[in-house]
Amino acid sequence: MIRSESMSEGAFLRCIRPACLHTYGVEEARYDCAACGSLLDVVYDWERTPAPGRLSFFAERWGTRHEPLDFSGVWRFRELLPFAPPDKLVTIGEGQTLLQNVDPRRVDLPLAAGNLHFQYEGMNPSGSFKDNGMTAAFTMARVLGRHRVGCASTGNTSASLALYASLAQTQSGRAMQAIVFVGAGKIAYGKLSQALDYGALTLQIDGDFDACLTRIREASDRLDLYLMNSVNPFRLEGQKTIMYRVLEGLGWEPPDWIICPGGNLGNSSAFGKAFAELKELGLIPRMPRLAIVNAAGANTLCDLVSRKGLTWNGGEWDQSIVDAYYDAMTREDRKAKTIASAIEINRPVNLPKALRALHAMNGVVRDVTDDEILDEKARIGRNGYGCEPASAASLAGLRKLVAEGVVSASDRVVCVLTGHQLKDADVTVGYHTDRYPGEARTCASQPPRPFANRPVQVADDLDAICAAIENADA
Ligand code: F0G
Repeated sequence: MIRSESMSEGAFLRCIRPACLHTYGVEEARYDCAACGSLLDVVYDWERTPAPGRLSFFAERWGTRHEPLDFSGVWRFRELLPFAPPDKLVTIGEGQTLLQNVDPRRVDLPLAAGNLHFQYEGMNPSGSFKDNGMTAAFTMARVLGRHRVGCASTGNTSASLALYASLAQTQSGRAMQAIVFVGAGKIAYGKLSQALDYGALTLQIDGDFDACLTRIREASDRLDLYLMNSVNPFRLEGQKTIMYRVLEGLGWEPPDWIICPGGNLGNSSAFGKAFAELKELGLIPRMPRLAIVNAAGANTLCDLVSRKGLTWNGGEWDQSIVDAYYDAMTREDRKAKTIASAIEINRPVNLPKALRALHAMNGVVRDVTDDEILDEKARIGRNGYGCEPASAASLAGLRKLVAEGVVSASDRVVCVLTGHQLKDADVTVGYHTDRYPGEARTCASQPPRPFANRPVQVADDLDAICAAIENADA
């Protein structure tokens, strides 16, 4: 058995740039490197906090799932993210998500039977994958004794933060102040309703996600506010566990492809780190490939990587390409715009970490239109999973990669479905009723939608009702 008391002694923060590698204590609550300004990783000394010798070790925890930490889909893998002592770990039962096998014919894909999977993260307590990261960030807030926590958000991070803050307060009796910055009119009502209902101070800023993130970073310096965006490296530690559950679902065998939507690029960065560490520990024989899928209206990563040739380059990525791209964005007043509001982001904060993940996982980046996203979302819904628009980018990306021949029929593929269907009911109803969902969003192409399931208007009359049912059956 791993000695849990030793946790956190073997963890530290380190600059991601190999030329810098400056280190900091985990208790320093830093979000970037004081020496060079780059992002930070949580790094472990695996000699001091040894990981189990085989991944199947974690399956034994199913037998003790009456213990909250063994029940948690994040903390049952705690030896792979050992940055805090077990008595400080925060859990509300997150990560009860299972890998789902989907018949590829049901989504019109020519993959071999058994080769398509959805990792359905909408089943988390707040309805998105963010809870995997939030449980880790709240653990760190507890370790640090911080009670004012905040984030900028396109909706799901704020919903998750608000939930954790309200439950932490209920469970411990200690006041916790949750503050969320959202772009006014920019987030789906399902998500806004969560932040409001859980009691977070919700600041609707007259700007987009990027503006909110800039402002909250400034405010966090001034107000002793613990920042819980994915620039907080502990968030990504929790999100690694999504990939551990994928492996668990595949009998600990890596798939050939992981496909996920890309917004602020926290998830893709976390996935790359998860697999790189497992490989380093000798716990997996090989890495899956990674596909990150942008919305075409918010495709900074795709532009930079697939069109401008930006690469990790051993940790010396060409920042001048990025700067020139961002300067042009400002000059031309170009702003991200997509129906997938969760990923409507101009300047993804985890860009360098995502470049590293793409390098480590021989990855690719694609972008997909709002129409493609909406049609795939409807296909997913028909199969009983249901997701919000951003999540459907993964299936749209897969379709593109299959058409290009990059993904072949014999490949085992996992699409990550990041958020629940009910997060953005306006878009769903809009699709099925041929109405544009909200003026602030981009208008995808004109109806009719190929998978629309239109409601049938019928008089309050039994004959008319029966006729409508029989006609539908015909
Ligand atoms: N899918 C959903 C449903 C999301 O909410 C997000 C991000 C992403 C995908 C993209 O993930 O940022 O790790 O690349 N939502 C953030 C938020 C930005 O504030 O809720 P990413």
